[in-house]
Amino acid sequence: MKNFVFHNATKLIFGEGTISKIGEEIKKEGIKKVLLHYGGGSIKKNGVYEQVINSLKENNIEWVEVSGVKPNPRLSKVYEGIKVAKDNNVEGILAVGGGSVIDSAKAIAGGYYYDGDIWDAYSGKYAISKALPLFTVLTLSATGSEMNGNSVITKEETKQKWSTSSKALYPKVSIIDPTVQYTLPTNQTVNGAVDAISHVMEFYFDGTSGNEIQSQLAEGIIRTVINSTEILLENPKDYDARSNLAWSATLALNGLLGAGSSGGDWASHALEHSVSALFDIAHGAGLAIIFPAWLEYVKNENIDRFDRFAKEIFSIDTGNPGIDANLGIQALKEWYKKIGQPISLKEIGAKEEDIERLVENAVQMSPMGKLKKLEEKDIREIYKIAYENKLLFAR
Ligand code: NZQ
Ligand code: ZN
Repeated sequence: MKNFVFHNATKLIFGEGTISKIGEEIKKEGIKKVLLHYGGGSIKKNGVYEQVINSLKENNIEWVEVSGVKPNPRLSKVYEGIKVAKDNNVEGILAVGGGSVIDSAKAIAGGYYYDGDIWDAYSGKYAISKALPLFTVLTLSATGSEMNGNSVITKEETKQKWSTSSKALYPKVSIIDPTVQYTLPTNQTVNGAVDAISHVMEFYFDGTSGNEIQSQLAEGIIRTVINSTEILLENPKDYDARSNLAWSATLALNGLLGAGSSGGDWASHALEHSVSALFDIAHGAGLAIIFPAWLEYVKNENIDRFDRFAKEIFSIDTGNPGIDANLGIQALKEWYKKIGQPISLKEIGAKEEDIERLVENAVQMSPMGKLKKLEEKDIREIYKIAYENKLLFAR
């Protein structure tokens, strides 16, 4: 296990009926006016907007709104948000939605105090050290953005989907009421589950050894996500399954699993961001395609780990190390297929010539990865595997 500092500054309020607390939490920070940031309107249909507004009113918090954040949030909306925030002298930001809304809010929060172009924080030219206080009401459990300092934004003209990270971007308070996720379309629940599993795998497969507690936490989270998702596919309103999935997704990327690790591999995420940047698909769906391809490509770097994954997650134990590793990757793909995810680039309409477009886009982030440092040729090979991602091993 490596030395670590674990410091998560977000206060997390969890459970049914907790959204009504948001106004009070903002008031406690001495804030009287916020920018209310949300997406395409799901919160108006499922009653979340009303709950939030009532709580703001009860606590005499004024607000101005910037809505219309799209999945894979765009830089242009961030600029709009910064302008409105400045013009109205808001003192904080309240993000109500999924990871896209929260990430967009983080960019606005950081951009508020930066005189230059906030894209500089994403292209590595500027490190965010000051931001408006951020509050969130989460409506989709997936990214962990409600309890971390990361933000991922897409610059439309260049199709660069890049990330930034800062201590200043941790939300002050986040509220998770799992019941508001009853209205999620099935594919969004599933995208969230795949994203959460992928975050766990980024740490699990980063090559750190001697980190047994983290390994077991990781395996427990993945098993819980799988079980909860299967229950939700039958009954989207199962409160315990929603709660377990929600808390698992938060724990997957709130710093807990990174403690004592090498910081995670993150190559699959970088490769996926190019897929969702070019094809505008959901991040989770992109990961269902890319992660198994990456696993396939790097498995021999740490085959014992892959054998363990097969055993602990899918109860595969043929007594043939190496074979188990392959069967484990196969089982993951089969499960992704079973829950309705694409597992190949072909399935999202990509053509063979798109592989080079993807390489060109992703190579801007290279070298990437910890378990295996990936250069251009490796990136190309992974996209080639992902293009077909065949189910190879019969069980
Ligand atoms: O826009 P609205 O109308 O709200 O609809 C949203 C959106 O269309 C809908 N939705 C959300 N909650 C709902 C709901 N529909 C019905 N009922 C509800 N309760 O779901 C759709 C997808 O929302 P989005 O926020 O895009 O999904 P997600 O939370 O998966 O966020 C994905 C974004 O986060 C980034 C991804 O790359 C992607 O851009 N990530 C952020 C990370 C972070 N900040 O730490 C890490 C991740 O690895 C990831 O890269
Ligand atoms: Zn992710």
